[in-house]
Amino acid sequence: MGVLDRVGRAVRRIETAEALDRVGTPLATAISWATRPAPVKNALSGTWLGHPLHPLLTDVPIGNWIAAAALDLTGSRVSPAAARRLVGFGTLAAVPAAMAGASDWADTYGPEQRDGLVHALANLTAVSLQAASYLARRRGKTTAGIALSAGGLALTTAAAYLGGHLTLVRGTGVNHAAFQEPVTEWTDVGAVADLPQDKPVAATAAGVAVVIVRRDKEVYALSGTCVHAGGPLAEGSLADGSLRCPWHGSVFRLSDGKALRGPAATAEPAWQVRLANGRVQVRSTEG
Ligand code: FES
Repeated sequence: MGVLDRVGRAVRRIETAEALDRVGTPLATAISWATRPAPVKNALSGTWLGHPLHPLLTDVPIGNWIAAAALDLTGSRVSPAAARRLVGFGTLAAVPAAMAGASDWADTYGPEQRDGLVHALANLTAVSLQAASYLARRRGKTTAGIALSAGGLALTTAAAYLGGHLTLVRGTGVNHAAFQEPVTEWTDVGAVADLPQDKPVAATAAGVAVVIVRRDKEVYALSGTCVHAGGPLAEGSLADGSLRCPWHGSVFRLSDGKALRGPAATAEPAWQVRLANGRVQVRSTEG
């Protein structure tokens, strides 16, 4: 069995290790509770930025630690101090990256949550090694510091593999509307008279799930699958001109789909709506 097969088997073992739930489930519940206030969730999810925050922040510590390793490897008269600063800065920068990651992780379940837990534990150990490396370097124990950093970077690499697996293989954190085919023709989704007031209604336009909302004389349409993790928006609740996803509480403005509350970081696709002969017709908004 090759190395890659072994890695794949190890990942599958993590994903089926239900024993991890004894730690993961209560921890995720506690983090969900701590990140419940909208300003906290929006800050950590990247809702304010319109882009998931965790993948942006992780580049900073990893970049600093790799740069420190390059200095350690090539060595020069000035490199010990520079490498120490890079290790220290990377360690500090890991804190906000970890907070954003923990917030994202708290909205996962089952195999994804187990992957994420091991990813987090590996990263926590890696950060601890880098912090120990910084202290060792400060005390002049450069060789020990280099060894600690090397161990930390190896663990960071393993954790990054799991993080990439979570996103690119398991689809955690991807935009669930990204592969939705645009519907360019006006498409009938039902009679205006059949739409209840202030109640989301599920519809389908050319095979794409849509949620229709009637408020007074206005009719709004958003994609029916939540961008965050695919929640059914037609089962969500309405408040103040916005729609709340039933799964993790993301809130989208009806008029343009803008994410007002995380964990969603990107807008829900808003559709164009027109009323013709008592019928509701929708089509995708360009761009
Ligand atoms: S699926 Fe997570 S907020 Fe909608």
